[in-house]
Amino acid sequence: MKGIILAGGAGTRLRPLTMVSSKQLLPVYDQPMVYYPLQTLLKAGIKDVLIIVAPDRAGDFLRVLGSGKEWGAKFTYEIQDKPEGLAQAYLIGRSFIGDANVTMILGDNIFLGQDDQIHEAITTFRRGGRIFATEVPDPERFGVVEFDASRRVVSIDEKPKRPKSNFAIVGLYIFDSRVVEIAQQLKLSARGGLEITDVHKAYLSQGELDVRMYSGEWLDTGTFDTLLAAGNLVAEWKKKRG
Ligand code: DAU
Repeated sequence: MKGIILAGGAGTRLRPLTMVSSKQLLPVYDQPMVYYPLQTLLKAGIKDVLIIVAPDRAGDFLRVLGSGKEWGAKFTYEIQDKPEGLAQAYLIGRSFIGDANVTMILGDNIFLGQDDQIHEAITTFRRGGRIFATEVPDPERFGVVEFDASRRVVSIDEKPKRPKSNFAIVGLYIFDSRVVEIAQQLKLSARGGLEITDVHKAYLSQGELDVRMYSGEWLDTGTFDTLLAAGNLVAEWKKKRG
């Protein structure tokens, strides 16, 4: 299993904080944001990690994260010239992925607790796609999954105006190497990017998408309020649990 951290993008929603720093290098309590998703991958045993960054920020990531040696891992870097969608990561990462399975995590997603759920999902993965959902109060901000009474997936929508459930799809995606082919066949969405939810739908249509519940704390740090909330929650968490 290989890992990808997607840490590109322009961070426009967090300006002026992101004028000279990448969003994923902003502090979340006592660490740069990207440390959290990186630690999630490392704790799940992933040692070979591709970090995808924006062209003008590559040096910053190298300075902060280095070669991976200090983390007991190997880091490779690739540039995403323009933020043209999450699924573009699989095109950029094509030769890195090769014929391996791959777990991609978003550089602004923080997972606190329930490490064993993620560890188990990654270490037992063999084929297809496996993603996580969690209940949120504001599903319209996310990819949303709808289940029927027997917990089978009925629909998946990206940022629906009228969400069919409160289950947001979190930014951690486990796929087999066929994800590269799937990404190659995607069409640009109305927003002008390659949507990760279209990858989910492709696996779903083949009957190969496993959607699990994540019951730890999940934080997307994309707005001023969620960034502040993440810092406070992490501080509280670390003081309580070490
Ligand atoms: O956080 C989970 C959500 O992430 C999912 O529920 C959605 O299905 C998924 O589309 C995504 O939605 P976001 O609105 O949070 O995506 P955003 O555009 O904020 O990008 C997420 C991170 O990925 C962010 O740190 C920037 C980075 N990014 C984004 C794009 C579009 C890139 O590195 N390259 C890109 O092309």
